[in-house]
Amino acid sequence: MADIVENPEAYFRAMMPERDSLLRALEAEAESESIPIVGPVVGELLFVLARATQAKNILELGTATGYSAIYLGRGCEPAEGRVLSLEYDAELAERARKNIALANLSQTVSVFEANVIEALPELAGPYDFVFMDIEKQDYGVALGHLEAIVRPGGLLIADNTAFKDADAFNQAIFSAPGWQSVQILAYLPMHSGLHDGLCFAVRL
Ligand SMILES: C[S@@+](CC[C@H](N)C(=O)[O-])C[C@H]1O[C@@H](n2cnc3c(N)ncnc32)[C@H](O)[C@@H]1O
Repeated sequence: MADIVENPEAYFRAMMPERDSLLRALEAEAESESIPIVGPVVGELLFVLARATQAKNILELGTATGYSAIYLGRGCEPAEGRVLSLEYDAELAERARKNIALANLSQTVSVFEANVIEALPELAGPYDFVFMDIEKQDYGVALGHLEAIVRPGGLLIADNTAFKDADAFNQAIFSAPGWQSVQILAYLPMHSGLHDGLCFAVRL
């Protein structure tokens, strides 16, 4: 049997990605106001994927205060990528714009106030990378629209796929001929709980 470290969660907790004062302030706000943000591990994952794929055209579904959008923006900046992030709560959208300005990312990240389900059919794409983090019961409907606007080889990451409400999406993408996907049940400190699902999919 492989030798696994004694207490994997404690081991990896010691490797929590570092954050600057802005991201830490957004985490503190999220904690005190119960705003569900992705936290530093998924945030860093988004940065890594945006940077590694050299994504130029990123779509985020569900902005909240702009925490994950800042990671995506920082990830795609060197490739002169752009992030469009959709949020239907006007007050949150405005807060996100202010936070994105504080991160000096206003040229890179745009926040658009819209209901994702209404806006998706109007978007032309093509997108290289989509991060989906809206109400989980809407993931399945969103998926139907994403097939048309994510380019072949484009990446879709869906957060919180261990939530019961994500089941319709999970079943749909598992059998969708237009996507190849994998679900990871992961240890994600400062996320929705300590463990949650993440779906990684590529558009075929
Ligand atoms: C989990 S939070 C997003 C957190 C953000 N991605 C982060 O980690 O910083 C979900 C956000 O999506 C918004 N939202 C949920 N359903 C939506 C929809 N159908 N259209 C637009 N925004 C939606 C909510 O108002 C909320 O701010």
